[in-house]
Amino acid sequence: MIHRWLPLVSLVFLALATGASAAPRPPVVSKPVPYDSVVPAVASAVPAPGVTYEIAAATTIYGADAGVRDLLARQLRRATGFTLPVAPTPAAGIALLLSGSFGDEGYQLDVTAGGITIRASAAAGLFNGVQTLRQLLPPSIEASGRQPGPWPVQGGRITDHPRFAYRGAMLDVARHFFPVAVVERYIDEISSYKINHLHLHLSDDQGWRIAVESWPRLATFGGRSAVDGDPGGYYTKADYQAVVAYAVARNVTVVPEIDMPGHVTAALAAYPELTCDGRSPPLYTGTEVGFSSLCTRASTETFVRDVLTELAALTPGPYLHIGGDETESTKPADYAAFMDRAQRIVADLGKTPMAWHEVVNAPLQPGAVAQYWGTTREHPALAASTAKVILSPAGRAYLDMKYDSGTGLGATWAGTIEADAAYDWNPGRYLDGVDESRVLGVEAPLWTETITTIGDIEHMAFPRLPAIAELGWSPWSTHDWPAFSRRLAAQGPRWHTLGLDYHQSPQVPWPPGS
Ligand code: ACM
Repeated sequence: MIHRWLPLVSLVFLALATGASAAPRPPVVSKPVPYDSVVPAVASAVPAPGVTYEIAAATTIYGADAGVRDLLARQLRRATGFTLPVAPTPAAGIALLLSGSFGDEGYQLDVTAGGITIRASAAAGLFNGVQTLRQLLPPSIEASGRQPGPWPVQGGRITDHPRFAYRGAMLDVARHFFPVAVVERYIDEISSYKINHLHLHLSDDQGWRIAVESWPRLATFGGRSAVDGDPGGYYTKADYQAVVAYAVARNVTVVPEIDMPGHVTAALAAYPELTCDGRSPPLYTGTEVGFSSLCTRASTETFVRDVLTELAALTPGPYLHIGGDETESTKPADYAAFMDRAQRIVADLGKTPMAWHEVVNAPLQPGAVAQYWGTTREHPALAASTAKVILSPAGRAYLDMKYDSGTGLGATWAGTIEADAAYDWNPGRYLDGVDESRVLGVEAPLWTETITTIGDIEHMAFPRLPAIAELGWSPWSTHDWPAFSRRLAAQGPRWHTLGLDYHQSPQVPWPPGS
């Protein structure tokens, strides 16, 4: 069946080429996107040569998970202009089935001449399978308005699952504030590369960005500032919940961070009782670090408990990030006692404490997660600790580092990071004495001292964020820079269609016009 139409197609072409037919011009036949264009690389792909499924006006969509189904249908309808009716039961066309054993996030994608089936054990797997399917369609599928098509998908089978459970992106909304719509666009972008955590850095010296009812001036006063005197702002609880819900629908868990006991000028400016001398500093708009500290007396615990209790109530995900970095203004013994108490509060709230790697200088709660942001491959205290580890080595994964000396945005304190440097490291073997079994995953942080718009965010994140996404998702056996650079190149026309101002790295063979 599958192959029978092939000779027919050849005959039509032959007839046209020889002028033997007066038939109307056939639609442009675009070659289906090959499986080795997908980022992150899939675990297993077996293409069926010559087999294609073409999405057409009559294609129906069945989805065992209505949320994932509707996201897919909306996306495909926009660019194809087709109705793509939703089918009440599995049918030919596109079917998203909850069946089989593919793990928490894995999926199987089958494409035959008769239809497309994605099978997964959970909605997260269906969502991930849909992201792969999007990349198997022509780049114009990403357009916001109707495109001419056609919409072929390469036949075959992909079986896929993640290497690491945690694949994160961090957005610093404290140095500069970004409205909900910007955060949601970033969630769209990161989730299309199967990133499944968004860490929001919600407080720092330059601004406090989340409403707290029990300490209202944190946001209403501490939220007014930003770097360089740029406009501040904060998320109301409803804003934050909207972001969380938007993220959940895209398989993204929000990880909120309140950075403590340092990086707290905005909080101290709002509440003098959080300082040791009872005097508030002014709001801060510079970019220094390491100069502020909560007064670590026991009474500050009320503040920590109140803030984290409200945040936990708004956050369905398992993690509360309590910062803990760059605390040069806190005495080591005070730091250890403070971080111990803060972790206990998180645990009492039924959440898992996460913090920057300096937390290993404090007693650790069972299950505590340390996020490594250093610039070397050694951290004996972290290696000797019981912490689970998320790897964000600054010289590899920090999206605010410049690509090269010509990059207008960003910093260089951890070096410059071109696409190959972001890609060419192994999270399972990066830190001495921290083997893969302790590594929860990877995260690409974006600090925003120099970043003020969604365009800036996108320019710094692309193409490096997909590199980190691939390190988190793909089996190490697929790791190959030349192959990855070609996969990245295939993303260029998609980003172009999305209006995404990515860095046109000279290391990547971008196709013309992307
Ligand atoms: C950090 O870059 N201070 C976590």
